[in-house]
Amino acid sequence: MSEVLSAPQPMGQTGLRGAVVGDTRLSSINGDEGALIYRGLDIHDLARSSSFEEVAYLLWFGALPSQTNLDEFRAKLNARRTLPPSFLAILRDIPRDGTPMDALRTAVSALGLFDKNVNDMSREAQIEKALRLTAMFPSILAAYYRLSEGREPIAPHSTLDTAANFLYMFTGNVPDERAARVLDVALILHADHGMNASTFAAIVTASTLSDMYSAVTSAIGALKGPLHGGANEGVIHNLLDIGEMENVDSWVTRKLAAHEKIMGFGHAVYKAYDPRATELKRIAKEAGTSAGSTKWVEMTERMEKAVWNAKQLYPNVDLYSASVYYTLGIPTTYFTPVFAISRVAGWTAHVMEQYADNKLLRPRANYVGSRGVKYTPIGERKGDVQV
Ligand code: COA
Repeated sequence: MSEVLSAPQPMGQTGLRGAVVGDTRLSSINGDEGALIYRGLDIHDLARSSSFEEVAYLLWFGALPSQTNLDEFRAKLNARRTLPPSFLAILRDIPRDGTPMDALRTAVSALGLFDKNVNDMSREAQIEKALRLTAMFPSILAAYYRLSEGREPIAPHSTLDTAANFLYMFTGNVPDERAARVLDVALILHADHGMNASTFAAIVTASTLSDMYSAVTSAIGALKGPLHGGANEGVIHNLLDIGEMENVDSWVTRKLAAHEKIMGFGHAVYKAYDPRATELKRIAKEAGTSAGSTKWVEMTERMEKAVWNAKQLYPNVDLYSASVYYTLGIPTTYFTPVFAISRVAGWTAHVMEQYADNKLLRPRANYVGSRGVKYTPIGERKGDVQV
């Protein structure tokens, strides 16, 4: 075979832990203290007092809105929720048995084709795209859900906010205020989170000066994975697999003994309690109490104790969001898409921040492969390469 001067070296992956890709004014995590701020505001204050629309406004414009600002902002979002008929035709045509995350990724990519200003990089056009994307995520997902169930999509409600409108378009019923508020709080908690994998994917794409739809499409692909947003689906599958409270401890012991990762635990940055998990545990209990069963949140708490006792791992955002969504009646394959309904506010904010002070993101890799390999003409190569 080929002559090699230097053989490949062992691979040592760092996962870019601790690397700083640039400056941001949007959100910051203190991993040691378990703290999270959006533009300086504490996540606990936002979760208890604000709404998803206020948070999106805060992320995009830098300050909390006045009542007039907020009313105008809500009206702008509601004016952009309706899916154009030719775009809806695409949702009708794609396979209905696909996963909603794949459908969302395809839909957002297609949405760019319906924007005649797709490559307009002015601030005004960027805000318009961010509004359009944030307004349409719930409509796209609810339409795909209903089509996959063999039912017709429902037009958006003209006045309901993001959380309530999603539940309305999904089920056909205006949700009660408590259910809408539970989802609204979950959306606040997921809106932004420093330089997470999907946000990084978005800004890498934006840094080439590609358009916002392309950047958000990249982000959706990254969010889908089970080590990122996909973990919330994994949590509910685990809870359903465990079935009953008395099985929790033995299940945890078995999984850890088999060196399996348990979804909803551990974090690349937090080495303390994830503040979002504190709020989600609170609303999971509220949602369970008002739905008449706290079984899932209680099992989750038991799992939290068992994992802590065995391995001292803290829960992350996905642990308690699973029982929140399950209690709201959202199908499990829509758990990660609900994360996306919220995170699009953060992705678009980061993309706009990137455009405002752009530098192409182009890191290097540490080459550990062979060097000095002599080219052998095909007729002289001996034996097949084992792949
Ligand atoms: N279950 C079991 N063990 C876990 C774990 C989990 N969820 N998360 C981390 N660990 C263990 C690892 O096995 C490793 O143990 P070891 O040192 O004995 O080998 C140690 O904790 C460090 O894990 P590592 O994967 O290097 O941490 P990380 O900071 O690189 O990874 C995650 C962070 C999020 C990828 C990881 O915690 C994980 O896969 N969690 C499950 C998926 C999830 O919930 N993702 C949502 C994140 S918001």
